[in-house]
Amino acid sequence: MKLNTLRSAYTDRMEFFGKLSPYELAKKYGTPLYIYNERILRERCRELMALSDHPGFAVNYSVKANANLALLRIIRSEGLIADSMSPGEVYVAMQAGFSAEQILYVCNNISGEEMRYPLERGILVSVDSLYQLEELGRVNRGGRAVVRFNPGIGAGHHKKVITAGAETKFGIGAADIPEMLEILSRYDMKLAGINQHIGSLFLDPQGYLDAVDVLLDLAREFLPDLELIDFGGGFGIPYQKYAGQERLDLKAMGREFDARIKAFARETGYAGRFLIESGRYISAECCLLLGAVHNTKNNGEKRFVGTDLGFNTLMRPVLYGSFHDIEVYREGAGPDEKLMSQSIVGNICESGDILAKDRELPEMQAGDLVAALDAGAYGYVMSSSYNQRLRPAEVLIDENGNDRLIRRRETLEDLLHLTPLDV
Ligand SMILES: Cc1ncc(COP(=O)(O)O)c(C=O)c1O
Repeated sequence: MKLNTLRSAYTDRMEFFGKLSPYELAKKYGTPLYIYNERILRERCRELMALSDHPGFAVNYSVKANANLALLRIIRSEGLIADSMSPGEVYVAMQAGFSAEQILYVCNNISGEEMRYPLERGILVSVDSLYQLEELGRVNRGGRAVVRFNPGIGAGHHKKVITAGAETKFGIGAADIPEMLEILSRYDMKLAGINQHIGSLFLDPQGYLDAVDVLLDLAREFLPDLELIDFGGGFGIPYQKYAGQERLDLKAMGREFDARIKAFARETGYAGRFLIESGRYISAECCLLLGAVHNTKNNGEKRFVGTDLGFNTLMRPVLYGSFHDIEVYREGAGPDEKLMSQSIVGNICESGDILAKDRELPEMQAGDLVAALDAGAYGYVMSSSYNQRLRPAEVLIDENGNDRLIRRRETLEDLLHLTPLDV
């Protein structure tokens, strides 16, 4: 549906809201509200699945990006498998129908006790230090292990999400291989797989492809036992859509990637799986976070737009300085060309509670609705009840344009559901 509103070119083009308008959805479910579009989610899954037609190729969805059960079920129905990194992520993935063989446990700094949770369910565990390998040996003697390597190449949109190279806590280096082999042999474990993850949100594939080469070279050392080679995730999306930011060229990347893995399989006779491990690319763009404008004010030269989108609902701007495109809906209004600089802020008691800083946007007023686009990855999963605000509800627009609740809004009672009332 084309909206008659202030700034909605992107959602208009995508027919994002299905049969209802954002006003109707806000009325029906309240705000703040996470809204997901099933068609876009499926498209993103299919684009990644098309990176290679090698029979061993699989797309491992990183549950950490978005763990909503309804989305996980859709992702599974598209033929993806799951990367979980905590018992909670294994639990939700299994509730969504992923089998043990379809889950890889890629963890960091956990206890041997915690390792038992995936192991008892038949799930392969990937460890990322020699100490953790030793721990795995103690609880999984005679079993299989996956080891995460640090290829020495990092990539990402912020230093907090670069997860390879000299500065990070993740993975073991090539110099650790002799000791790794010694630990494996002492516990009679088989090295079933190797993996890496160089960081999050790349739009130029070259760093990733270089790291693919590094991991494939390394893999040669561990044949023929190896069953899986996992190159990690980090596939970026264009957060600056209104500025015309280019998409990652997945077709070109796929050609390079596919050629590399096929050449490797041909040369070595490797018959195992090749995985990528993507979260953001799959779940970010199918979602926006809808909020209400309650108030506007000028502090000297600065104009603030006060909304219910506190950073308890979407942490990324505060955590990483991340940019989310903003749309503005006002029923009956025409697209407004008169832009002005405004900062969109939330209702949390911190001066850092800024969703979008100094943006050129149509002049907003109380009663408008605002949407932060591309909120489906590291959005709801990082939300909190800080200031005892309630976590938002989540709604899915299905492929026929119909809406349905896929997680209810928290209630005041939920805030105390872990606390005995006579405490
Ligand atoms: C080990 C591992 N794999 C995959 C991912 C998914 O990354 P992205 O959502 O950028 O694809 C992450 C993200 O932190 C990760 O740590």
